[in-house]
Amino acid sequence: MKWLTAVLSLGFIASNIQAAPTEGLDLFKLKVVSSANDVDGQYLSSNASTLGLYDGDDFSPVRVYATSSKKAGCIQLHTYPVGIVDHAIALVGSGGLMTLTDMVNPSGAKPADGLVTEWDSFRVSDTKLTNDGKGTWVAFPAAKNSWSVKWTDGSAFMTTDYMPVEIVMEPAGEGRYNEK
Ligand SMILES: *[C@@H]1O[C@H](CO)[C@@H](O)[C@H](O)[C@H]1NC(C)=O
Repeated sequence: MKWLTAVLSLGFIASNIQAAPTEGLDLFKLKVVSSANDVDGQYLSSNASTLGLYDGDDFSPVRVYATSSKKAGCIQLHTYPVGIVDHAIALVGSGGLMTLTDMVNPSGAKPADGLVTEWDSFRVSDTKLTNDGKGTWVAFPAAKNSWSVKWTDGSAFMTTDYMPVEIVMEPAGEGRYNEK
């Protein structure tokens, strides 16, 4: 009986592995939600590695997938498609104001002098993305009809034209590690 149970459970495991031939990645777009119509429903895209809300057809929404982080309850967000070099979304800044940045090879990178870089302390709760700890996302009007989106812990000096916003992880299909 013991033997039979062992064989059955082995068979169960084997068929489960076959059911998932290659590892699929759940992809997400990062959508800004705000009571201010100007930015509500817009997706974050990347311009020269800085994430924001950009006006124009050249800018397509960034797609990310989540992996676990060493920090309890936190995740990392990597950009998709997956290239030879890993890219992750990071918060880079100082003085309590952090910019969402597309970071190359985050696990091997050294933070720039005087700047705080955080890329393994994102949290998702009820589809909403936050950084670990206290703070909020804010959007500022920027050049060329665009908006910059930053994280603030509340200590930053800010001009009065900022708007508090939320970032929602919106499902964007499935990707694969080897897809270009
Ligand atoms: C994109 O970034 C470049 C370099 O920083 C800048 O000159 C350009 O104005 C930006 N484009 C938009 C639409 O913000």
